[in-house]
Amino acid sequence: MLFENRVLFVTGGASGIGLATAERVTAEGGRAVIVDLDLERARSAAANLPGSIGLAANVADDDAVAAAVAAATEQLGRIDHVLAAAGHAEFGPVAEWDSTRLSRMLEVHIGGTFSVCKHTLPILKATGRGSIVTIASTAAFTANGNNVPYGAAKAGIAGLTRQLCLEALPEVRVNCVAPGRTVTGMTTPIMLERGGDMEQGERIFGEKVPMRRMGTAAELAAAICFLLSDDASFITGQTLVVDGGETIT
Ligand SMILES: NC(=O)c1ccc[n+]([C@@H]2O[C@H](COP(=O)([O-])OP(=O)(O)OC[C@H]3O[C@@H](n4cnc5c(N)ncnc54)[C@H](O)[C@@H]3O)[C@@H](O)[C@H]2O)c1
Repeated sequence: MLFENRVLFVTGGASGIGLATAERVTAEGGRAVIVDLDLERARSAAANLPGSIGLAANVADDDAVAAAVAAATEQLGRIDHVLAAAGHAEFGPVAEWDSTRLSRMLEVHIGGTFSVCKHTLPILKATGRGSIVTIASTAAFTANGNNVPYGAAKAGIAGLTRQLCLEALPEVRVNCVAPGRTVTGMTTPIMLERGGDMEQGERIFGEKVPMRRMGTAAELAAAICFLLSDDASFITGQTLVVDGGETIT
């Protein structure tokens, strides 16, 4: 029971990697605050997790994030762990990106991660301990085409994490996980478009991975929960790549 009596605050928690992490934390004795764009989705995800609640917030809106953090502490009494997982993927050559679209990409990923850390860090520091995990991507470190804004946003998150780590010490640890190709709500439409069905889509995407398959949200959650938990008590400021070996080639 790695998370007994602990509360996880997770953005993007209604789906994919965020939801899988909330499931694992609650299975290990904790409770979760599921924050997502849509209140109904957040609440229905939380309804399956003992002691958990769902809240709506767009992470690109700093006031909305502050309100969600306040509601979380008011309703569950504490926050011990934070996962900033909210995000969206959009691809295309730079010529297709105007400044509004680019700003949205940067505001959700870098701005959203910044706001979530800004508003939760004082609470964690006040309790004298705690941990934060942010989510980058292998796209922060490798180039694979038509991915400039997303790759820039994710590289920004890795840099933000490293810088924040010093400010958070000595009480709080801050680490980053960089997922490779993972089957989630984000990748499902792309797999269906490329493959026609999920099986073909997974096969096409998995071929580029040395392990010959995509990762699961539960596999990402396992790595995130390790970094969030006391098992990683001497690890901070790191980015852990979880990609089936894709970036070693
Ligand atoms: N799936 C992959 O292959 C992959 C690879 C690398 C990185 N990532 C990153 O992992 C994180 C989680 O994505 P996922 O794959 O689980 O996708 P997902 O679509 O299953 O989950 C993302 C969740 O974030 C929410 N969200 C999006 N924008 C938001 C906003 N502005 N405010 C609040 N919530 C918002 C969505 O509603 C959704 O529920 C993202 O940051 C993504 O960029 C995913």
